[in-house]
Amino acid sequence: MSADIIDGKAFAAQLRGRVAGFVPAFRAAARRAPGLAVILVGEDPASQVYVRSKHKATIEAGMESFEYRRDPSISEQKLVDLVNQLNADDAVDGILVQLPLPDHINEQRIIATIDPDKDVDGFHVVNAGRLAVGLHGYVPCTPLGCLMLLRDKLGDLSGLDAVVVGRSNIVGKPMAQLLLAESCTVTIAHSRTKDLAAVVRRADIVVAAVGRPEMIRGDWIKPGATVIDVGINRVPGAEAGKTKLVGDVAYAEAAEVAGAITPVPGGVGPMTIAVLLRNTLVAAHRRAGVLLAKDAI
Ligand code: GUN
Repeated sequence: MSADIIDGKAFAAQLRGRVAGFVPAFRAAARRAPGLAVILVGEDPASQVYVRSKHKATIEAGMESFEYRRDPSISEQKLVDLVNQLNADDAVDGILVQLPLPDHINEQRIIATIDPDKDVDGFHVVNAGRLAVGLHGYVPCTPLGCLMLLRDKLGDLSGLDAVVVGRSNIVGKPMAQLLLAESCTVTIAHSRTKDLAAVVRRADIVVAAVGRPEMIRGDWIKPGATVIDVGINRVPGAEAGKTKLVGDVAYAEAAEVAGAITPVPGGVGPMTIAVLLRNTLVAAHRRAGVLLAKDAI
């Protein structure tokens, strides 16, 4: 194994610590804590784990955490009403509606209801548009976390060939926009891409976000490339009845060839919540009119 392992867990812990470091001055200036509201509809076990982790991390950072758990039978209109109530609540700087939502609820309508200036997930079309044209807004947490890891590892990214595998609104598309803003030459590949192996082989930076266990093989990786694996896939483990987590990249193979790689777990995963806290801190400062130096965090 030759690649450097990118320790997202350590980086995320450090980022959370830095966010927490800004909270006392904010509290003193605004006479309140930054506040994050999370809405969870239904009982999806993975969503429950995420929401619990978000709550714990928010409290640990010295912020206020507001949780709204709703029955899966809630009507779309009732959920719209709850989001509007939070839009109007001055103690709430960030609103996150945990996805997926039940089938009878139109996710896009709910996201469109969130005040774009409280949209710390960066899912609202206004924030997608701000990202596309280079205006300040909120960038989805997972891709922004990936970019932070890349900058930390590589410094200046300009001129590098980046291939993003996956075209979701949550990861693939915003990731491509971020890399473009860093002056990378960006390719977005997906399930219909012809000769995906050849496309990935061109890349100095590979970001894998397809949701298919170990799809990207070691011999697809250009020697020395930096590999960011966003995938979190549960697959059968070695022992009967046990499962394990793997990424979208065949880790052991890729680590033989890559210059640097994120592991699963412990790579990109922990960055998402750390960036959510960062976005909430930024939202709180903007909303309260308290100065936070550009690029401070
Ligand atoms: N479900 C899985 N990941 C996310 C996320 O980052 N934000 C929201 N709102 N829901 C999710």
